[in-house]
Amino acid sequence: MKTQRPLSLLSILFSAFLLHFHPTPTAGYYFYDTSATTTDTATAGGDTNFIRTSCEITLYPDLCYTSLSGYANAVQQDPARLARIAISVSLSKAKHMAAYVSNLSRKADYGAPPRAAAALHDCFTVFGDAVDQIRGSLKQMRRLGGSGDSLRFQMSNVQTWMSAALTNEDTCTDGFEDVPDGPLKSDVLDGVAKVEEVTSNALALVNSYVAKVTTP
Ligand SMILES: *[C@@H]1O[C@H](CO)[C@@H](O)[C@H](O)[C@H]1NC(C)=O
Repeated sequence: MKTQRPLSLLSILFSAFLLHFHPTPTAGYYFYDTSATTTDTATAGGDTNFIRTSCEITLYPDLCYTSLSGYANAVQQDPARLARIAISVSLSKAKHMAAYVSNLSRKADYGAPPRAAAALHDCFTVFGDAVDQIRGSLKQMRRLGGSGDSLRFQMSNVQTWMSAALTNEDTCTDGFEDVPDGPLKSDVLDGVAKVEEVTSNALALVNSYVAKVTTP
């Protein structure tokens, strides 16, 4: 976070919040490996069909397409890049949610019912773990190299971390089971559900890439 320009980051967070998880592609550029953009010019216009087809294997194909089609130039027809960019999109969503929950949690310490305050606090903790796991996955995707067993090992790390992130996000939701219904609860649960959807999509694209590199 420290390396971001604070003003831009704020406005990104703000617009991401307004758009409620339908990000503008340009906002996402701040969050993913910018080296991907250096080869953009090769396919001006990009290949959105490749993204549409790849998204069909995910649980939320429409969200997958809308959240990734803006990166067509960076993806080209490369399933590893598509998976990496999907991971970076899920990272920015998870980070935003962690910040949002942190804010709510701080406020809840003054006056919210204790069960809600505890659920928010736990949610912030598990979301922090999810952010670390997604960040680790992104790092690994940026460093992918080799082939065969070596590549399979690197990808199995990514699969493990992305599944763990999904589990942590789900744990946040579980923590609200005993919290009485209300705007705060539905706000958090709706937000978490959106993050889970993009995380699930990213994992599906990772799995799909793994299937491609492990079948000869
Ligand atoms: C969290 O609170 C800070 C300070 O009040 C604010 O600038 C930021 O936008 C908030 N973040 C989210 C994601 O709500």
